[in-house]
Amino acid sequence: MLQIYLILEQTNMNNILVTGTNGQLGHEIQNLSLKYPHYSFTFTDRTALDLSDLRATEDFFKGKRFDAIINCAAYTAVDKAESEDELADTINHRFVSMLAKIAKRDDSKLIHISTDYVFNGQSHRPYIENDPTEPQGIYGKTKCAGEKAILEISPKNTIILRTSWVYSAYGNNFVKTMLRLGRERNSLGVIFDQVGTPTYARDLASVILEIIPKIDNQAPELYHYSNEGVASWYDFAKAIFELSGITCEVNPINTDQYPTPASRPHYSVLNKSKIKNDFNLTIAYWRDSLQSCLKALGENE
Ligand SMILES: NC(=O)c1ccc[n+]([C@@H]2O[C@H](COP(=O)([O-])OP(=O)(O)OC[C@H]3O[C@@H](n4cnc5c(N)ncnc54)[C@H](OP(=O)(O)O)[C@@H]3O)[C@@H](O)[C@H]2O)c1
Repeated sequence: MLQIYLILEQTNMNNILVTGTNGQLGHEIQNLSLKYPHYSFTFTDRTALDLSDLRATEDFFKGKRFDAIINCAAYTAVDKAESEDELADTINHRFVSMLAKIAKRDDSKLIHISTDYVFNGQSHRPYIENDPTEPQGIYGKTKCAGEKAILEISPKNTIILRTSWVYSAYGNNFVKTMLRLGRERNSLGVIFDQVGTPTYARDLASVILEIIPKIDNQAPELYHYSNEGVASWYDFAKAIFELSGITCEVNPINTDQYPTPASRPHYSVLNKSKIKNDFNLTIAYWRDSLQSCLKALGENE
C-alpha cells in the first residue's frame, strides 16, 4: 500500500491530497513535491483509495480535510472505455462529482485534470476554454461529464485544467512505445492526420504546484495547458527518433489505416493564453520538453 506522508515542520502548513500517484502526472508531482517543503502531501494510489468504490472513497474523506486536492487519477484507457463505460463513468464523472462536493464542503482548493478529448476535433484554430464541447468517445464523454459536474456544484478555488498528448518517463505512453518499436523495426507507419501538442507531464506537474497558492476564484475556472507548438503523431515520432539517435524510417499514414475502437480528434491544439496571462507563465516548446524527457530516460546523453 502506497500512502506517503511528507509532514514537515511548518506551522503554516498546506495539506495537499494527490490522487493517481502511480500515473504519469501523479508520479511527476510526487517527484517535484520535495521542492515544496512547506506543503504536507498525501499521495494515494489505487490500493489506498480505489475510486471505483465510491462508498469506500467517501469513507476515506471522513474526518480528513485537505487544503488542496489534485485529482490526477482517471480512467484513461481510451479504447477500453468503449466497452467499460460504467467504470469509466464512475471514475471520470461520479467520483469527480463527489470530489467537487467534498471540496465545496471543506473549502478545499481543487485542481482537476481534463482533456482535449472533450472537443470534437473539427476546429481549425486552437481551442479556447469556452469553445463548445462535443466529445466523440466514451472516455471524452465521461471526462466531459466530470467537468460539467464540477461546474454545476461550483466549489470555489477550483480549476479544471485540460491538457493533451501527455507523456513522461513513467507508465505507458507514445514516447516509450516509439522508443521500443523504433529499436525493434526498420520502418513504422505513424498517423499524420491527427494534430495536437505533446505535453511533458513534468512541465504540467510543475505548473500545477506553482499555481496552487495563486488560485483564488469564486467559481470554477477552466484552463488549457500543453507544451508550445503543434505536431502530428508523425512529427512527434520523427522527433523522438531524431533526438534519441534511432534510425527507423517513419512513414505517414492516415487515421483510417490504423483503426481503433474509439475515434480520436483530428485537431486538438489547445490555446493556452488564459493560463499564461492569469498566472504569468512561460511554457516550453514541445521539442525542448521532449528532449528533457529523453534525457530523464537516459536516451540522449
Ligand atoms: N495521457 C494523456 O495523453 C492525457 C491527455 C489528456 C488528458 N489527460 C488527463 O490527465 C490526467 C493524468 O493523466 P495520466 O497520463 O497521468 O494518466 P495515467 O498515467 O493513466 O494515470 C491515471 C492514474 O489513475 C489511476 N486510477 C485509475 N483507475 C483508478 C481507480 N479505480 N482507483 C484509483 N486510481 C485509479 C491509475 O492507477 P493505476 O496506475 O493503478 O492504473 C493511474 O495511476 C488524467 O485526468 C487524464 O484524463 C491525459
